[in-house]
Amino acid sequence: TQGQNGVPDLEDAGEHVHKLRSDNWFNRKDDIGLSALYIERYLNYGLTPEELTSGKPIIGIAQSGSDISPCNRHHIQIAKRVREAIRSAGGVALEFPVHSIQETSRRPTATLDRNLSYLSLVEMLYAYPFDGVVLLTGCDKTTPAALMAAATMNIPAICLNVGPMLNGYIKNQRVGSGTVVWQARELHAQGKLDAAGFMDMISSGTPSVGHCNTMGTASTMNALAEALGMALPGSAGIPAPYRERMQCAYQTGLQIVEMVRADRKPSDIMTREAFENAIVVNTAIGGSTNAPIHLNAIAKHIGVPLDNDDWDRIGLKIPLLVNVMPAGEMLMEEYHRAGALPAVMAELFDQGKIHVNALTCTGKTIGECVEGKNSWDRATIRAYDQPLKHDAGFVHLTGTLFDSAIMKTSVIAEDFRKEYLENPDDPNAFEAKVVVFDGPEDYNKRLESADIDRRTILVMRGTGPLGYPGAAEVVNMHPPGRLLKAGISSLPCIGDGRQSGTSGSPSILNASPEAADGGNLALLQDGDRLRVDLNKKRVDILLSEAELAARRADLNARGGYKGPESHTPWQDIFRRETGQLNEGMVLKRAVQFQRVAQT
Ligand code: FES
Ligand code: MG
Repeated sequence: TQGQNGVPDLEDAGEHVHKLRSDNWFNRKDDIGLSALYIERYLNYGLTPEELTSGKPIIGIAQSGSDISPCNRHHIQIAKRVREAIRSAGGVALEFPVHSIQETSRRPTATLDRNLSYLSLVEMLYAYPFDGVVLLTGCDKTTPAALMAAATMNIPAICLNVGPMLNGYIKNQRVGSGTVVWQARELHAQGKLDAAGFMDMISSGTPSVGHCNTMGTASTMNALAEALGMALPGSAGIPAPYRERMQCAYQTGLQIVEMVRADRKPSDIMTREAFENAIVVNTAIGGSTNAPIHLNAIAKHIGVPLDNDDWDRIGLKIPLLVNVMPAGEMLMEEYHRAGALPAVMAELFDQGKIHVNALTCTGKTIGECVEGKNSWDRATIRAYDQPLKHDAGFVHLTGTLFDSAIMKTSVIAEDFRKEYLENPDDPNAFEAKVVVFDGPEDYNKRLESADIDRRTILVMRGTGPLGYPGAAEVVNMHPPGRLLKAGISSLPCIGDGRQSGTSGSPSILNASPEAADGGNLALLQDGDRLRVDLNKKRVDILLSEAELAARRADLNARGGYKGPESHTPWQDIFRRETGQLNEGMVLKRAVQFQRVAQT
């Protein structure tokens, strides 16, 4: 029988057909004494030996909400509904906490915890008797951390998003969480907003439980989890407080038990085709610039080759279809009502832009899940031939300043385009002098006093994975107050850090190698000139090779480019073990461990 969302109704599913991983704990024919030892402590909250030994799949619920992870906190309630479904499908649920990550208050930066959460989750899944796992995802880094762990472990796994917040409003104007911060900062810098007004404006963007209600990194990564086939169709966009969220939790719980019985694993779902689909989807939704970092990381952990050239080649020419902030006007409530990801993928399906045969967690192909689901609300999800923007993906740039950096072209404002990209003699290219900041503290200190005019490139360095540790979201810099007052809302920004997915800044970011890893960004000085050429996809330093060599020798003599000291053991370990942003910022030693569950 078929339930909601096409998910099979599993309440009367029969005996399991293959040997369960948990049998190695609870059903050891070779050593019943050992099994007794494994079983006995699980009984002290009322489980019976019969439940643990009768072939019921043991399903983990990796619970990522907590008081310090407010974006995911609603999972404390949602997990109960998942548990009921697992039970009614004939499984046993074991809920456990995941290392908490809070995007906005974690110092120095939340990305530092993605790999830590990943490591801890792999260890939990490996060490305990799980046959499958429901990954409760939401806030930015919680989703990639969970998918990376699922990739390494390769036991049946399914994502369940906490869901976005309801729309924020000031009067009848939509206010997007995250995105409003950048707007409020500009108003504050222009002297149009006092401290209390600043606080009010930002708070109005966060009206309920759930993650950011814009197409920031959270909405993006959960949409990509669904595009990969790792979440139920239509699930990622359901606002956290909606009744469908709890119903979806129930369907997800049923589905994971079916997945264990069918032995449907991440490696069956997260194939090269699935990753290519996710890249296409990311452009169509106007997804975050953090997506390449995280998707490349997930791919590395499951052994699928994927790099930033793939993002440019597969994603750049796709149009922007979703009219949600920061690239558009709406928020996630409209997006959900308009049909959410299945509606977006139906457009891509009709144009032959996705691999329709990629398998999903449901056992159906992605094509079967999305065909004919086109939106009725064309203001929010556009038809493929009437997009918000053409060629809306990421440009992959190289050159003498870095080997790899990306630029999200869909958020470039018209005034920026006119000033920088529409010179008839040199279209899509410009040369300008730089002002260089060593981290956000230096930027805050010197922004108003530095020699910045309307033709200045702002450079942010020392903010990559090793420099800041974790890579800070600081490349989107606003111009000094005097330029903002003169109506100049954005200058070109380049940096080795990241930028928030909720930001609409025309930045060249994720530059690798970073200054602290030997990148040429470390050699720049205020007043140097750069050439940015979006046709050739290059950023070059307009200095002689001899000058660069002399500066390099000088830097080496001073011991290289140094970021702040490490203040905790993990900061130090992270810096020693982690690769660059273009490579997914993964723990280099971790990627050699694949399909761990089979060992
Ligand atoms: Fe957690 Fe945006 S800060 S989802
Ligand atoms: Mg974010």
